[in-house]
Amino acid sequence: MQLKSLSTLLALPAVAFSFAYPPSEAEALLELQPADDTIALSPKLVIIPEVDEEPLEVPPQGATLTRVGPQRALPAQKPAAEEEETDDEDDTPLPVVVWHGLGDSADAEGLKEVAELIEQVHPGTYTYLISATGAAGSADRQASFFGNVTRQLDHVCHALAEDPILRTAPAIDAVGFSQGGQFLRGYVERCGGWAPRVRSLVTFGSQHNGIAEFQKCASPTDWVCRGANAVLGGGTVWSDFVQSRLVPAQYYRGETDDDRANYLEHSNFLADINNERGAKNATYAENLAALDKFVMVLFDDDRTVVPKETGWFADVNMTGGYAVTPLRQRPIYEEDWIGLKRLDEKGGLDFVRLAGEHMQLLDDDLVRLFAKYFGPAGKKFGASWPKWEP
Ligand SMILES: *[C@@H]1O[C@H](CO)[C@@H](O)[C@H](O)[C@H]1NC(C)=O
Ligand SMILES: *[C@@H]1O[C@H](CO)[C@@H](O)[C@H](O)[C@H]1NC(C)=O
Ligand SMILES: *[C@@H]1O[C@H](CO)[C@@H](O)[C@H](O)[C@H]1NC(C)=O
Repeated sequence: MQLKSLSTLLALPAVAFSFAYPPSEAEALLELQPADDTIALSPKLVIIPEVDEEPLEVPPQGATLTRVGPQRALPAQKPAAEEEETDDEDDTPLPVVVWHGLGDSADAEGLKEVAELIEQVHPGTYTYLISATGAAGSADRQASFFGNVTRQLDHVCHALAEDPILRTAPAIDAVGFSQGGQFLRGYVERCGGWAPRVRSLVTFGSQHNGIAEFQKCASPTDWVCRGANAVLGGGTVWSDFVQSRLVPAQYYRGETDDDRANYLEHSNFLADINNERGAKNATYAENLAALDKFVMVLFDDDRTVVPKETGWFADVNMTGGYAVTPLRQRPIYEEDWIGLKRLDEKGGLDFVRLAGEHMQLLDDDLVRLFAKYFGPAGKKFGASWPKWEP
């Protein structure tokens, strides 16, 4: 248990602490529970920001969803190029589940708007906005920073399996924004055998191959984010203590060779669902290969996620001149550790590139993607629209 680097946080005078916190946030944070029974974490340890530091220079968006550009008025027109061949019997669209990103919450306005867009494109769609712990609002937002992802995922698998509409649907479609994307991939791999089956999984700017840096907080007064980053910056990222509590740590990969070794040994989530360790779980590969479509959307101007190519599951050598190895040239694909090669060979793997910064989404792009990949159960996916190659 490496608590040493956290102790510097304790050194901050209590008076600084009480000035630094808006009461409501601080109260909410005091309810933070340690993820395990190993050691009682004083909530103050987690949330104390470095109050003497200059405001962070960051783009204002973070991983929360923003719609940019002209917004669509009802009723939406389906893109003319989309042919929706469906079977004649049932044109009820499959339900869609949506997992939000870091710093967002299931009841955030942007997420509700996504649900409305899905409804415009495929009227009658049942859209389910995932909360990792079942909590709403600021508690759900907190759970995007804090918690053991394995436990959160387990909660989500059960919640989806118990939902009366999702569990009786022939299958479901899924949208994962940012970290929600790799969590939904985890859902497919771990729970695909018993929880509602996913047909199309679409991920936006997700960190499938991990991150080399932690995201900066969008706002200097975002105490939850800064509290998380204070712990992450403490040099304890590979400890079980941090791996079981700090969400971004569980898909952190680092950049040095030492980081890689530590990642393989200690990563609580990503190294496991990527089947990167010696013992591969064949069920993960079978479940992922059973998708109809796995669509990875990359934001071309992504400056929030480092490296952005993780959105396409590419590997980037950060210390070796930013050498990018595309997914299809990596052992995880070539040796088919998680079923991506099988999926690709049946035409199920699509790479999509969108202009713009992380999670800055144009309605038109969302509409085109929803039109193409979601809809009724019998739907045939026409020729890839448009065709991107990594
Ligand atoms: C592989 O993953 C499945 C699904 O999560 C799980 O039930 C099984 O126990 C895992 N097998 C091993 C060997 O870990
Ligand atoms: C996270 O939770 C799972 C399930 O309870 C547990 O097996 C695992 O050890 C936990 N991770 C850490 C790093 O404690
Ligand atoms: C990155 O490239 C450097 C120089 O080629 C190499 O020494 C290093 O092992 C590579 N690191 C990783 C993590 O692949």
